[in-house]
Amino acid sequence: MLNVPSTSFPAPSSQQRVATIGRSKVPLKPGRSLMDWIRLTKSGKDLTGLRGRLIDVTEEELAKHNKKNDCWMCIRGMVYNVSHYMEFHPGGEEELMRAAGADGTELFDQTHRWVNYDSMLKECLIGRIAVKPVSILKDRTTGVKEKNCLNGTMAPDNAAEVTEKEFRPRYDWFQTDALVTIVIYTQQKDMSLEFVTVDHEENILRAEVIIGDFSYLLLIELNHEVHMEINVHAKEKAGKIEVVLQKKHPVAWKTLGRYLEGHDSFIKSSQRGHHYRKCKLVSKNDISYNTRLLCFELPQGSPLHVPVGHHVYLKLSISGVEVVKPYTPVSPFLILDPQKTACGQSQFIYFMIKIYSDGSFSPRIDQLKIGDYVLMSNPQGNFPLSQIETVEDFFFLAAGTGLTPMVNLLNHIFKRHSILRKAKLFFFNRTEDDILWRDQLIQLNLADERFEAQFILSEPTDKWDGYKGRISLTLLSERILKSDQKNVLICICGPNGFVDEGIS
Ligand SMILES: Cc1cc2nc3c(=O)[nH]c(=O)nc-3n(C[C@H](O)[C@H](O)[C@H](O)COP(=O)(O)OP(=O)(O)OC[C@H]3O[C@@H](n4cnc5c(N)ncnc54)[C@H](O)[C@@H]3O)c2cc1C
Ligand code: HEM
Repeated sequence: MLNVPSTSFPAPSSQQRVATIGRSKVPLKPGRSLMDWIRLTKSGKDLTGLRGRLIDVTEEELAKHNKKNDCWMCIRGMVYNVSHYMEFHPGGEEELMRAAGADGTELFDQTHRWVNYDSMLKECLIGRIAVKPVSILKDRTTGVKEKNCLNGTMAPDNAAEVTEKEFRPRYDWFQTDALVTIVIYTQQKDMSLEFVTVDHEENILRAEVIIGDFSYLLLIELNHEVHMEINVHAKEKAGKIEVVLQKKHPVAWKTLGRYLEGHDSFIKSSQRGHHYRKCKLVSKNDISYNTRLLCFELPQGSPLHVPVGHHVYLKLSISGVEVVKPYTPVSPFLILDPQKTACGQSQFIYFMIKIYSDGSFSPRIDQLKIGDYVLMSNPQGNFPLSQIETVEDFFFLAAGTGLTPMVNLLNHIFKRHSILRKAKLFFFNRTEDDILWRDQLIQLNLADERFEAQFILSEPTDKWDGYKGRISLTLLSERILKSDQKNVLICICGPNGFVDEGIS
């Protein structure tokens, strides 16, 4: 009997799924592209109906504006008039109307948390939502004082919520003449570097640790100068993270520095804004006629580890509007050969990006020149590797750049998953020219008998003697469901239709 774990890859709630089943982009009328929207926002037209005035909006007032031609929506406490955006929304008018006259934050985040709505809707801003005066304790997570710092004298605040109290990390710091070490006690077993991002820019230190759905942040403007390079260690068993700074001058520090807004806060990750760092394009190579392999260099003070099954957001300014899209880092070779590549070093991150000539973002990525910068977010996603601990057989169903999340998982299982029995990739493409990394896949096929790649083409030439067709129940039941393996994980990634078909 086939034992398919209830968890699959990417996880059902992951954005790697591309979108929630059944909801996708709708065809827009001509003249309604992102560039057309940007032009409209720059035209000077009054898009709010308030001639630039900002107002406080009550819930009652918000609820009145719930029609297509008069549609207000609240996102993260800010109210926007989205009536003019209606025809430009790639998800369609009906989708946008689901949050008409209401708080759309949750719906928005479920669908596309990465979309930079505040930049895109700058000219549509009506004002803030007026909060009813209620008796609440001051939000302790945004305090700027040093709290829970063992090195200091503050006692822990008893008003903390239960979850926060139970899991809240603490930190301490100590110093030598040469080093300052900040220790974060996460209280988590198996805490690894994958959950930590550290940035050091203009003497501001930002360290974020992800614990389940929560994010713990240290944000400090350092009192003294330190070298750019920061070392980060994880003491996995003890659940400790050490951030080691190298002093420029051997003076004794009295404090770490000035604690900035958000410092020592422990909040739901979804409430934490994305943090971006500037990354330099260092190489760009063609993988196929429309897909490039791009390598970006992280800033020296920002080591970044992107866990398997996770992605990041790339941000570019397009005609003054910040546009963001998700991309999945890949290792530059299917099975990493440290001799061949610098990717093992965490300061380089590679992406396999398909360029849509009529797309809004990828053509801009294609236009980047070596030495140009892009902004890159912290890793996002939800694929704990513990999910695959007992899996022996892996089936990968990929279409086009849906291969990208599979690359690092393949790399991981071939190198570190000792119980791996079989990994089978079904790679769906239109034509032979669309098959990404065909040679690398064939080489892996030859090099390791546990791996098998099958290419399936929907529009092959007459010369093609391989598999033909599209993803279908017949194909899947013949090749997967008939198999007699135990402990199987089926991974599927590609465009919405492909994923929906595969899951159904
Ligand atoms: C978690 C995640 C990870 C991803 N990882 C990768 C990756 O590693 N590599 C990669 O290449 N991509 C990846 N993507 C896809 C990527 O984020 C972009 O969606 C992709 O690059 C296209 O963006 P674009 O702005 O260039 O094109 P878009 O403007 O989104 O257009 C793409 C295509 O859709 C068409 N289109 C646009 N709007 C509409 C509409 N309203 N109706 C009908 N058709 C429309 C366009 O004509 C074009 O052909 C990932 C997506 C997710 C969600
Ligand atoms: C809160 C209600 C909203 C819902 C339910 C909704 C729904 C959707 C859906 C279903 C898609 C298609 C998903 C895909 O194929 O990737 C989409 C795309 C999009 N929406 Fe929304 N949306 C909402 C609000 C907004 C708002 C306020 C903006 C403002 C800028 C916005 C901007 C976009 C953009 C830019 C895309 C294209 C995303 C991409 O290609 O990466 N949406 N939306």
